[in-house]
Amino acid sequence: MSDRPVADFALIGASELVTCAGAAPAAGAQQKRVGVLEDGAVAARSGRIVWVGPERLLDREVDVLPGATRIDVRGRAVLPGLVDCHTHLVWAGDRADEFERRLAGATYSEIAAAGGGILRTVDITRDTPTDELAWAAGDRMDRLARFGVTGIEVKSGYGLETDSEIRLLEAARIAARTRPYEVVTTFLGAHTFPREARGAATARDHYVDLVCNEMIPQVAERGLARFADVFVDQHAFSLAEARRVLETARKHGLGLKVHADQLASDGAAELAAELGATSAEHLEHVSDRGIAALAAAGTIAVLLPSASLFLRSTHTAPGRRLVDCGVPVALSTDLNPGSSPCESLPFVLQLGCLLCGMTVDEALVAGTINAAAACGISDVAGSIERGKRCDLLVLDAEQRCQLIYQLAAPRIYMVIANGRIVS
Ligand code: NIG
Ligand code: FE
Repeated sequence: MSDRPVADFALIGASELVTCAGAAPAAGAQQKRVGVLEDGAVAARSGRIVWVGPERLLDREVDVLPGATRIDVRGRAVLPGLVDCHTHLVWAGDRADEFERRLAGATYSEIAAAGGGILRTVDITRDTPTDELAWAAGDRMDRLARFGVTGIEVKSGYGLETDSEIRLLEAARIAARTRPYEVVTTFLGAHTFPREARGAATARDHYVDLVCNEMIPQVAERGLARFADVFVDQHAFSLAEARRVLETARKHGLGLKVHADQLASDGAAELAAELGATSAEHLEHVSDRGIAALAAAGTIAVLLPSASLFLRSTHTAPGRRLVDCGVPVALSTDLNPGSSPCESLPFVLQLGCLLCGMTVDEALVAGTINAAAACGISDVAGSIERGKRCDLLVLDAEQRCQLIYQLAAPRIYMVIANGRIVS
């Protein structure tokens, strides 16, 4: 009996096969190493990669079954399917009118303080049936995939009451069930305080109690989320409240994420590092102490430069400095109706370079293996390696650099998720 791998899928003809292989997450100097095979080929079976190597060895080393899918990409660059590791893609309605108000001078915080912003989306989302939310979420997943995304993290956070938060997580699961993407859900009941919890300090406390005593236990018990996240901000949760939520989540076996230092330097990166969070996300205003803490803890920095751009902020996250200080950096769309209605992760990778000072290869690592690590799926996604999902992004270009260079409209030839052509 031969132990040659057997394949029902083979891809050949890659000018560059960008594997992003190796230990995840990649920090500091490692972030620059993407791993490139020239004339590389990939073989897979039932959606899993069984072999990666030089094309001339494919037939010698792999039994490619008769009738297998054979794709010759004829001199195009092939990358791992991208991973969008921070999205809020389950919502109803839109906030285009707020965008216009912001263009006329109002700020995001002013609109939120006046009852707009997240709370408006909460009102509409609560009133929308779960199947409709799932349809909208699924359509957004498919549009992300057209831009090369095959792994997606989805946060709740537009329910802000137990049943609604659970419905949002279920909607993400329903949308994922019939699609070939790797989807991870995050409970973000601590996105902001709902209308009914604003005003008296006791109402605030009651909401934190509800998150800790009712929502987290139910979400964890029903296996509805892998992570819990908290938005630390002047208009959302204090450091002390966030600590309570995150410690409770950890006790219930959830991984931790923090929306940290987005609109001001709140010390949230330090809290994320102290609690051993998987990631600290946003970080537009992260302090030097925060950066040092993230580096020491190995917490992944998830940067969301399309949100800075869309909010017209002059502060973008210090991507260059984070990489240079040894913090593993990921980039993500933050897809949401208020601060980032952006469904193109390649555009975000471009902003990572243009606004945050990262190099092309750093951005590619940030959108693949580091993003996979940031949402806990680096064992199955984020690189082209034996044993992982066969998720591939084929550029309509010879060099990987073109994904970043073709501003706003990268040329994508083909997207393969779990061994299936999806675009
Ligand atoms: O990541 N920072 C908080 N939450 C979202 C915005 C959500 C919204 O405005 O609806 C964010 O930017
Ligand atoms: Fe966010």
